[in-house]
Amino acid sequence: MLCIITEKNRYGYCVIMIKENRQKADLIVGIQWGDEGKGKIVDLLAQNYDIVVRYQGGHNAGHTIVIDNKKYALHLIPSGILNPKAINIIGNGVVISPDALIEEMEQFENLENRLFISDSAHMILEHHILLDQAKEKLRGKNAIGTTGRGIGPAYSDKVGRNGFRIGKLRNLDQLENEIIDYLQQNRPILESLNIDIETSSIRKKLEFYKEKLEKYIINTTHYLWKAIEEGKKILLEGAQGTMLDIDHGTYPYVTSSSTISAGACIGTGLNPKDIGTITGIVKAYATRVGNGPFPTEEFGEDGEKLREQGFEFGTTTGRPRRCGWFDAVAVKYASRLNGCDNLALMKLDVLDGFEKIKVCTGYRLNGKEIDYLPNELEKVEPIYREFPGWDKSKGVRNFEELPENAKNYIRELEKLVETKISLISTSPDREDTIRI
Ligand code: IMP
Repeated sequence: MLCIITEKNRYGYCVIMIKENRQKADLIVGIQWGDEGKGKIVDLLAQNYDIVVRYQGGHNAGHTIVIDNKKYALHLIPSGILNPKAINIIGNGVVISPDALIEEMEQFENLENRLFISDSAHMILEHHILLDQAKEKLRGKNAIGTTGRGIGPAYSDKVGRNGFRIGKLRNLDQLENEIIDYLQQNRPILESLNIDIETSSIRKKLEFYKEKLEKYIINTTHYLWKAIEEGKKILLEGAQGTMLDIDHGTYPYVTSSSTISAGACIGTGLNPKDIGTITGIVKAYATRVGNGPFPTEEFGEDGEKLREQGFEFGTTTGRPRRCGWFDAVAVKYASRLNGCDNLALMKLDVLDGFEKIKVCTGYRLNGKEIDYLPNELEKVEPIYREFPGWDKSKGVRNFEELPENAKNYIRELEKLVETKISLISTSPDREDTIRI
């Protein structure tokens, strides 16, 4: 829709601007190292959206959502699946393990016309998973600590133009030949890593994938463009977090996709002008799984307490997460990078019972104080500001009812990261959420 706006410029002339006033897609993005609690927020917000879209990552992501005492483990399917009215889309930027997706789909009864998969999304096949695990072993003490799900090799093949788009399931003869050719060409590398793929069973597997998935595969970019034109409300759901972004994260200790808001355009086919409100999801403290720099990591009692109170164990791999304090330098950087309009502060209640709570407000690098994120993040020493703790924020649903020290903590965080906190979560329960 076009709308005409008249206003005066500084010379007093009247100018007429024609502005497009059309539907935009809102976006949810992880601000730290993933596991910020995006699942709860997407589940909460999905109630108000017609379409929910995943735009990057694969089944390395994961969260559990409990509804009416039934647990759902989601890795690839957007959280909107739990809203019976929402359409769910796995965008072209996602890498899909057909085996993992089929298993996940089995949790739901009828997904027809509720789930669509981009025909341009790339598949994670058996050799990608074996390559991921073998390469991690070779890296030894420099291992990235990947989830071992084949994410890196699948994205590498995509960028190297050797990948397999899921839309190719429409033509099994061609796809089977291409996979066999690929395995032949890469035999020296695969053999050197003791990877042996049984080619005689490929056809059967592909037939199974086709039978289970073909009816869901469409051109999702075209679908989304039409949906926007029709005024449908769209929510884009990011996976992992900003600090794991392939370009802007703590390289090489990152995942292999563009986890930031800009990745939503690449991973869906929407353009930057299609993006509406961007909400960053951030925990009231910080965690990281896998290796790589983490300036505010706590190795002592406080780290252990955060892990226990926050139940910080990976949903996908079960690994204990590394825990530490809120890093305001990293969050401010991530907020700027993503263009966050606001933040959702998750797991505030996990800080209940701490006498003192620390927040990193700057770094010391080579003896100098800095307030930005350097490439040599492993060399920085955090500069902390201490806040008095509080006892009970768990389950609070109204900002005014939060302990005074918790309110103060939130207000100070907003100043430090220069972004408004508009939502606070005080327990995993959907209802225990404060909107301000
Ligand atoms: P990959 O994505 O499996 O290649 O793993 C690369 C890095 O990203 C590792 O440090 C993983 O632990 C981390 N990672 C991948 N997915 C997630 C996630 O969903 N949450 C948190 N960390 C993740």
